[in-house]
Amino acid sequence: MKQFLTVKDAGDVPTLVQEALTIKQNIGEYSDLGRGKTLGLLFLNPSLRTRMSSQRAAYNLGMNVMVLNLDKDSWQIEFEDGAVMNSTKSEHIREAAGVISQYCDIVGLRSFPGLVDRDKDYTEQVLHSFQKYCSRPLISLESGTRHPLQSFADMITIAETKKRAKPRVVLTWAPHIKALPQAVPNSFAEWAITSGAEVVIAQPRGYELAPEFCRGAEVSYDQDAALAGADYVYVKNWSSYEDYGAMPSVEGDWLLTPQKMKATNNAKIMHCLPVRRNVELIDELIDGPDSLIQVQAGHRVTAAQAVLKKMLETI
Ligand code: CP
Repeated sequence: MKQFLTVKDAGDVPTLVQEALTIKQNIGEYSDLGRGKTLGLLFLNPSLRTRMSSQRAAYNLGMNVMVLNLDKDSWQIEFEDGAVMNSTKSEHIREAAGVISQYCDIVGLRSFPGLVDRDKDYTEQVLHSFQKYCSRPLISLESGTRHPLQSFADMITIAETKKRAKPRVVLTWAPHIKALPQAVPNSFAEWAITSGAEVVIAQPRGYELAPEFCRGAEVSYDQDAALAGADYVYVKNWSSYEDYGAMPSVEGDWLLTPQKMKATNNAKIMHCLPVRRNVELIDELIDGPDSLIQVQAGHRVTAAQAVLKKMLETI
């Protein structure tokens, strides 16, 4: 595996998920595979799970890890080609990526969208600049449009717990106090559709995801109807794609409740974390017996280890 940026890089998703579940049974089996190799983890934004799970996965494979908060601990990076660098940005991506490629064997990058310029975010300027100038295998640790390691962990979670071959998976919008990226719902939708699930995306009007992420899914504006017969309910807030980065006013109450869950097929509840308790999802559902939220977070290590193993086998 040369890169892990979208679901297309995963190859056959069910096969990769099975490989990950095998790794989970014996996480120490490949503890020498990464000996002498270094993983560089570069963050332009905060992280708890992605940062720690990637480190843990690398250690399980015997790798060294270097973590750099590019936004705080390093020079500000200029991504525009031809820029006159007479402002606050001291280093160009060309030099930075070239240097990082000498120090690291595999590189991971987190680069959230700005939620201001849709074209800039959806063309993945930051991720693709790294890809262009970094000569090492590149892993997205969440980019402008996708969060593939999270989605891979989510698919592992569903594969491990599903009670029927084609589960009904409902991705439902939830309230939030600030505008969030579309990366997690975009990515979850494309991975779940590719995995062969029956996918329903439920959101208020104005919160439709980009069309390319909805192909193969049913789109609903009626949360109650969407929940009927669901096996999994994936709760997530996101901001508007159409009125890019905005939070259009919402009709009705989109906060999930135990009463609404009665319409499901004893559905399991999923969330990528971090979650704002009692804003996005209530305590009772986060902490209840149907919550898979901690299981998903645990599978972040499994997912990262499966990806790193594939990359180490090719370098
Ligand atoms: N789910 C997730 O990516 O968590 P972090 O932002 O803490 O890494």
